[in-house]
Amino acid sequence: MARALNVVVVGVGAVGVEMLRVLRQRRFPAAGLTVLARSARRIEVDGVSYEVRTAEPGAFEGARLALFAGTEGEKGAAVTLAGEAVSRGAVVIDNGADFRMDPKVPLVVPEVNPDDAARHEGIIANPNCSTIQMVVALWPIHRRSRIRRIILSSYQSVSGTGRAAMEELREQSPLVLDGRADEARCAAYPHRIAFNVIPQIGSFGEMGYTTEEWKTRLETHKIFHDDSIQIASTTVRVPVFNGHSESVYIETEEPLAVEEVRRLLAAAPGVVLVDDPAEGRYPMPVEAAGRDETFVGRIRRDPDVERGLHLWVVADNLRKGAATNAVQIAELLLGRRMF
Ligand SMILES: NC(=O)c1ccc[n+]([C@@H]2O[C@H](COP(=O)([O-])OP(=O)(O)OC[C@H]3O[C@@H](n4cnc5c(N)ncnc54)[C@H](OP(=O)(O)O)[C@@H]3O)[C@@H](O)[C@H]2O)c1
Repeated sequence: MARALNVVVVGVGAVGVEMLRVLRQRRFPAAGLTVLARSARRIEVDGVSYEVRTAEPGAFEGARLALFAGTEGEKGAAVTLAGEAVSRGAVVIDNGADFRMDPKVPLVVPEVNPDDAARHEGIIANPNCSTIQMVVALWPIHRRSRIRRIILSSYQSVSGTGRAAMEELREQSPLVLDGRADEARCAAYPHRIAFNVIPQIGSFGEMGYTTEEWKTRLETHKIFHDDSIQIASTTVRVPVFNGHSESVYIETEEPLAVEEVRRLLAAAPGVVLVDDPAEGRYPMPVEAAGRDETFVGRIRRDPDVERGLHLWVVADNLRKGAATNAVQIAELLLGRRMF
């Protein structure tokens, strides 16, 4: 008899809480649910109370699925505990960057490369939030005519940094409005985020690009199975609580009519076309927040490049950019009887 589908969620920060919400909203058929974090306590999400236990290896006993939304790095939850979960028979779906570029770990967006999930050896990685929404929007176009170049400029919300950064924007905003900007505490970012725009996400590295900017390049290559696509990004933090926006410029092998691109996107899974600028309709974070889809609009031909197109892409980074994508991967495995 198949073992019960016991689920463990690791982390109850911005993504972890959304994970609990998405599991419930999508009626994921968990037989049991264990919630772990650094410290034990009780939390309430949408009126439902959850007991949070301290994360330790024994907590994965009997688990079939472990959804990781803890912090990244050497002392983070995924590095210290993912192996413990896998050795006890769980499939790990990790939201962080620790395993994304490991050749043995599939990097999966269900609308784009669902078959990669089947190759897992215990761990499946969720891509970075800014990558996920971009590839969901570009995949239908890439399938019609290969995309050979992408230039991305992102406008990323503070929830992408987690709970502490959301709190910082909340604290700083009234101080600035009060004329007391010099009292604003800056811990989550190197500069004040309230009423500001910071052209740095992650740390600076190779060729002057940030770690976030390299992620969008390397992850897109891995998900599309095409390392030859030219990709350059500028990723920017903006004082928006939730929802990432992206200006995406692409060059396809063949010139595509804007109307055809609109039709492709309107029919694409997980995409909502919002493209009626004359009526003031285009995607915006306030409308994407709380939704699972990726919203695309402002589709237009580049005035000078025949094969060049511009798009505006918006999604809820905590949902499609993290929790929803992870739960969709779990649903995919379930649908293919891979648990
Ligand atoms: N925010 C986004 O839009 C987004 C998108 C894609 C991917 N991600 C990734 O998702 C992960 C979570 O991000 P977040 O924004 O939710 O962060 P967050 O708000 O800072 O929350 C982190 C959570 O992880 C827990 N945690 C930290 N270290 C742990 C450990 N060693 N063992 C167990 N639990 C641990 C914390 O426990 P306590 O509550 O007890 O402190 C907290 O609940 C990160 O890897 C992030 O890069 C985030």
